[in-house]
Amino acid sequence: MRLHVLAALASLSLFAACEKKKTEPAPVAGGTATDVKPVENKPAEDVILLGEVGSLTGSEAAFGISTRNGIELALEEANAAGGVKGKKLAVRVYDDQSKPEEAAAAATRLVTQDKVVAILGEVASSNSLAMAPKAQAAQVPRVSPSSTNPKVTEVGDYIFRVCFIDPFQGAVMARYAKETLKFSNVAILTDKKSAYSEGLTEVFQAKFSGAGGKIVGVEAYSKGDTDFRAQLTNIKKLKPEGLYVPGYYQDVALIAEQAKELGLKTVMMGGDGWDSSKLFELGGDAVDGSYVSNHYSSDDPSPRVQEFIKRYQAKFKTTPDSLAALGYDSANVVIEAMKRSADLSGPALREEIAKTKDFPGVAGTITLDAQRNPVKPAVVLKVEGGKFKYVDTVSP
Ligand code: PHE
Repeated sequence: MRLHVLAALASLSLFAACEKKKTEPAPVAGGTATDVKPVENKPAEDVILLGEVGSLTGSEAAFGISTRNGIELALEEANAAGGVKGKKLAVRVYDDQSKPEEAAAAATRLVTQDKVVAILGEVASSNSLAMAPKAQAAQVPRVSPSSTNPKVTEVGDYIFRVCFIDPFQGAVMARYAKETLKFSNVAILTDKKSAYSEGLTEVFQAKFSGAGGKIVGVEAYSKGDTDFRAQLTNIKKLKPEGLYVPGYYQDVALIAEQAKELGLKTVMMGGDGWDSSKLFELGGDAVDGSYVSNHYSSDDPSPRVQEFIKRYQAKFKTTPDSLAALGYDSANVVIEAMKRSADLSGPALREEIAKTKDFPGVAGTITLDAQRNPVKPAVVLKVEGGKFKYVDTVSP
């Protein structure tokens, strides 16, 4: 097992440096590199230590890096405003290399060794599912910024999320396909190794058929595959008006390119897993004309969103995607709960997180229900010229 641990900055140089070190890197207060205070193996007394598990390398690296940035910005802002209970916040970050078993190992380390007060992450639902039992057993609250599979929070009462769930997201796209795009025949290409993809496939199938549409075929691949031509050739024979691909950006980009190469004329549709600027770098114009459901749009004119975008751009020189927005929201929900909580023990903090109500997130207002999930609207975005363009908002 090779766990990558790194301190608060996701810069590649720091990452490489940490990898070589034999000793644990010190947790650092959220902020710039100059904030790094070397502490031997355990956090300094005056620091509240959070944990984070993310895919900073591997097939979903873009998810982990955006989330890292969002969390970093939230901690920096909280520390600049005085921290929590007179202490600065720090975060210990583990890179799970986009692998569920590594995510589980990292969660174990955060609770047994680092003794963090709460854990943020993961993004991919399969990785979140692998981590959840570790946090639950140790009674350490864990908030996933963006894992949408319903099973994630079902693991137990210490597991929360700040995004909507897939029964909603899948229904949004099924309804959009049927009612707005007026499709009658749709095929699905699913990743059978991903809890996220399998879950969305089920929902889309049920909702699209329920609305009178026909699912003409379901083809499958496994995470890590790079050749989708056999499945796409089968799909082409079915002449679907739409093709639902509830996968992650790296696979989707390849699928789109190969579909184009095979002359498959159909409108591709997907979910939040498409969200990364990498989709356009890897998929070029092959993804043009597609539709996705997502958590947030950087086109949202509300001041809360636009001011967040400005601060994020100033720090990271790029526009925040929904991962960054949800990473930022997840950290802020925990920070606010820590402020309200009488103490920072797992049970006390859990109670406060569970009470989160009308929290003004940048990816929507967050009120957690009894299942520890928020109920929030989704946006529908269209891919146009290497960009996601806002087209609609759908409320639950
Ligand atoms: N919802 C995805 C999952 O559960 C993760 C994701 C969220 C990806 C937001 C991109 C944007 O696996």
